[in-house]
Amino acid sequence: MTTHPQSVDPDRIKRITESIIGLPTLPTVVAKMIELVDNPRTSASSLARLIATDQALTARILKLANSAYYGFSREISTVNMAIVVLGFNTVKDMGLSLSVFDVFKLSKRNESFDLTRFWEHSIACGIASRMLARSYRSRFTGEAFVSGLLHDIGKVILNQYFQGEFLAIIEAQKKGATFEEAETGVIGTHHTQIGSWLAEKWNLPRIISRSLLHHHEPWAPGKENCYIAIVNLADLLCHLCGFGHSGRLLPPAPDERLWEIFRSESIPLEEADLPRLQTEFLLEFDKSEAFVSSLHEGRQETGDRSQETGDRSQETGDRSQETGDRRP
Ligand SMILES: [Fe+2]
Ligand SMILES: [Fe+2]
Repeated sequence: MTTHPQSVDPDRIKRITESIIGLPTLPTVVAKMIELVDNPRTSASSLARLIATDQALTARILKLANSAYYGFSREISTVNMAIVVLGFNTVKDMGLSLSVFDVFKLSKRNESFDLTRFWEHSIACGIASRMLARSYRSRFTGEAFVSGLLHDIGKVILNQYFQGEFLAIIEAQKKGATFEEAETGVIGTHHTQIGSWLAEKWNLPRIISRSLLHHHEPWAPGKENCYIAIVNLADLLCHLCGFGHSGRLLPPAPDERLWEIFRSESIPLEEADLPRLQTEFLLEFDKSEAFVSSLHEGRQETGDRSQETGDRSQETGDRSQETGDRRP
């Protein structure tokens, strides 16, 4: 990623930072869920106990587990049962995704940025990151889905709080700028930086906030470049396979430095492996079809509920307006 510090507008960065500070906090249950992932002694029952403390989340996980996509003949009535039949990681990733959708349920509509396709890209990147981590960096398999799901979350924040600027970034690409050049020119910072501010505010593990910050430059000095390189490669696979849309008009070009990171850790991944990795990813995505479909159903439901909530608050607003009008 190229940065041009001379074009940075400090006032804009400050405004963005202040908006991040105003963002909702991550629900406690999700923060604890991420902590559990870090702990090798985590058991299925501790995850079930944790989810059970959040009744709304429990209800939604059970609804998804019982959705037609999974097609179980027997009703799944407890989180423990859901973990037994769906697996620990599926239930954990489902809970995390539903909670993240909830935080951003009031995202503004934007004709140039299709949020449904954006979340398709994000979920696909979570699945690809998890697949690659499982094969090449197994120590971080648990974190990989979260890194992939959240890697571009800075764009949702831009769309929500700086929609005019975000539209200008998307438009600038049509005149030949790369996404990064457009970001530098319009806002003087990057979705990667904004995403990492959010991760810090949410107290996510450092490995996750670093992967958000450097997912387009995993060769940046620091630790665990190989894990971040996996998120970079997962993002590339999503673009090559055409899963969803990230707001970027052209896929990011594979960089030689990416393969150097893998070579330095004796990981057998080279540019020539891209066709094989795409095939493996398509198979992995097929295996995750029920998970992906049920998540989209869960997300749409969140959107519908927020629409209702929005309508209700609109009504409330109208009523208070009336009340206000009646005041002497
Ligand atoms: Fe990105
Ligand atoms: Fe992306």
